[in-house]
Amino acid sequence: MVVALSSPAGPWPAFVTSAPGKVILFGEHAVVYGKTAVAGSLDMRAYALCTPRTDGLARLLLPDISVDATLPFASLPCRASVEQLAHPGDVAGLLAPHVLADYEGGPGRTAILTFAYLCASLVDEAAWAEGFSLCVRSLVPVGSGLGSSAAFHVALATALLRISGRLTAVDALGRKLVDAWAFRGEQVAHGTPSGIDNAVATHGGFLRYTKGAAPQPLGNSAAGGSSSAAGLRMLVCDTHVPKSTMALVAGVRELRDQHTEAIDAVMQAIDSISTRAADLLAAGKPGCAEAERHLAGAVRLNHGLLCALGVGHPALDLVCRVAGQRCMPAKLTGAGGGGCALVLVPAEADEQAVAEVTGELVAAGFACYPTVVGGPGVAMDDFVDGVPVARWVEAAPSELPGGADGQSDLIERFAALPDAALAQLAPRTGT
Ligand code: MEV
Repeated sequence: MVVALSSPAGPWPAFVTSAPGKVILFGEHAVVYGKTAVAGSLDMRAYALCTPRTDGLARLLLPDISVDATLPFASLPCRASVEQLAHPGDVAGLLAPHVLADYEGGPGRTAILTFAYLCASLVDEAAWAEGFSLCVRSLVPVGSGLGSSAAFHVALATALLRISGRLTAVDALGRKLVDAWAFRGEQVAHGTPSGIDNAVATHGGFLRYTKGAAPQPLGNSAAGGSSSAAGLRMLVCDTHVPKSTMALVAGVRELRDQHTEAIDAVMQAIDSISTRAADLLAAGKPGCAEAERHLAGAVRLNHGLLCALGVGHPALDLVCRVAGQRCMPAKLTGAGGGGCALVLVPAEADEQAVAEVTGELVAAGFACYPTVVGGPGVAMDDFVDGVPVARWVEAAPSELPGGADGQSDLIERFAALPDAALAQLAPRTGT
């Protein structure tokens, strides 16, 4: 591992990319088998600051998971051998062992594998000759089923596509490209993901998603439709119970191998719930009383069906019970087995009841995030409020010793921004 400071001078200005986490409203697990799922973007995001260097190295700094790796171009596998891989995850076999040596057994290993895979696939030797530094920070809780890895992969793929000169604007075509490369990052990390997480992190808003088909925006502003469906209010509750998406998906597969007809019937039931909910969101009426009643029933039913697939957990059932006692429907979201539940907060909710639910869940040891689902997807910005990204980072309050002294390297300062400052990097879409 080499730690090097990046040069403030360079051939291009510093820029920042960002992408949201997600909640799956309906259809997780069933989506792996070709059924419909509905997901929405969170107002929690991952942010990547990208700065040029002059020494031909690529540095990846991930302060949240203690990664600080600097790769020379020569340490990457060549593009031809990466292109011939049967699966992107096989990139591990092409990397020299010393590249991963400091990160074996930790989350940093996967991050470096994806970084190496995407760099080898996208960044050619000419762009690499100058070098770059990338620091990714995330406000999406890790390992909770909220799409933290997809938010990371979308922000990372966007940055590398821009460095490689393949992406100049986050328009419809640009989003398609980002989504495709972020999906490969997800494959490196998760084996056989459905693609829903990277689709939501890329497109934002609400999406109807079916594996293999183009994600379908559901009447929301971020993805290009009307704004009426944006803004479903929810509490996202992180039980902190650890889970492995890969193991849970494999568990459902095993159950289906043993009880194919029964499990296919459960999948079909989930599909009908998702399809009806997608139609309601597409009609742009999630807040009307009838739609809200329908969504409430759908949330409860979907949770029960997920439990039948064996991906429930007592902590998730506790969330459903606590919220249900105040007439707020809840279900697990994401892979289950722990992780997060979502609580639908009705438009006319009694604020006292919301506070009581939050209080009880926090007292149980869970984290509760009040959130509005359906905001913007991937963004790429050179300016923040009219100020070049580099100057904005220099001026922002920092947790570096010595505070905002303007002397530190930009990447180090970004790594030390307080979360509240990071959240001010508001996304601008369609630029
Ligand atoms: C994980 O967030 C959602 C699952 O359906 C897996 C996937 O779609 O890749 C469990």
